[in-house]
Amino acid sequence: MADESAESPRYDVLDELSLSGLHALVTGGSRGLGRAIARALAAAGATVLIGGRDRQRLEDAARQISQETGTRILALAADLSVDEQRDRFLSEALRQLGRVDILVNNAGIGLRRPAVHTSLDDWERVLKINLTVPFALATALAPAMVSRGFGRIINVSSALGLIAFPGRSAYCAAKGGLIQLTKALALEFAEHGVTVNALCPGPFETETNRPIQEDPVAYQHYLSLIPQRRWAKPEELGPLAVYLASRASAFVTGAVFLIDGGWTAH
Ligand SMILES: NC(=O)c1ccc[n+]([C@@H]2O[C@H](COP(=O)([O-])OP(=O)(O)OC[C@H]3O[C@@H](n4cnc5c(N)ncnc54)[C@H](OP(=O)(O)O)[C@@H]3O)[C@@H](O)[C@H]2O)c1
Repeated sequence: MADESAESPRYDVLDELSLSGLHALVTGGSRGLGRAIARALAAAGATVLIGGRDRQRLEDAARQISQETGTRILALAADLSVDEQRDRFLSEALRQLGRVDILVNNAGIGLRRPAVHTSLDDWERVLKINLTVPFALATALAPAMVSRGFGRIINVSSALGLIAFPGRSAYCAAKGGLIQLTKALALEFAEHGVTVNALCPGPFETETNRPIQEDPVAYQHYLSLIPQRRWAKPEELGPLAVYLASRASAFVTGAVFLIDGGWTAH
């Protein structure tokens, strides 16, 4: 007979979301969504390294996130679109972090230009940082994750990876490709404790969207498309990233998460 007077251990769901002891690399962590994700991962206990090109902005962001979370944030500047810089970034990130358990492929750029005015250089620039770099980083870091039997890869795609917008052909193609890359990698690593998932944000209030937010006509047009009639704040992405980075999401892989105020539910 079970001793009913014996106390069962207290169940705390937040323990399952703790990232304590895990090491995370967040590309494009100096501002916007990447900064919000890095801050959330750090607040959940991870040791975080952020990347970006602008060293000063990166160091300022690392200092601020450190103050807000009470953790030390590492910062490493590099243009990840340049192969030699990316290789150096990876080896230096591994030297500083020791290992990478969580990779967040967030760095990206947009391009608003009709397809017929999009040069091949534009096309390749957009594809490189939004699709090729996530492939390069994931495939460089995954073998060690596989051998440890644990890893989390989170690719920041976009709602525009699933639905299209005129004037966004390169961006839509890159983000759609990133969703398919997410699923293909998820299948390759599924048996090894390494999950690969995609986040698909709708419109968030970040620097990259400032031209739209400052244009009253364009801003209203977006609001009319979004059932919640608002733009999101970057910090609204953090908790989902924590879940996907944690042990709690072990059975979630190859999944695509929309965070878009109902935009694509139409
Ligand atoms: N904001 C939205 O509404 C929205 C919606 C859907 C998807 N997304 C996606 O979410 C991600 C973040 O967007 P965001 O709005 O936060 O953008 P953001 O404010 O422009 O920030 C982009 C980040 O990426 C870094 N970055 C850009 N190019 C880089 C390169 N070649 N090498 C290294 N770092 C680079 C930037 O730092 P440096 O400039 O210093 O390099 C910055 O830290 C992007 O992938 C974007 O496509 C955003």
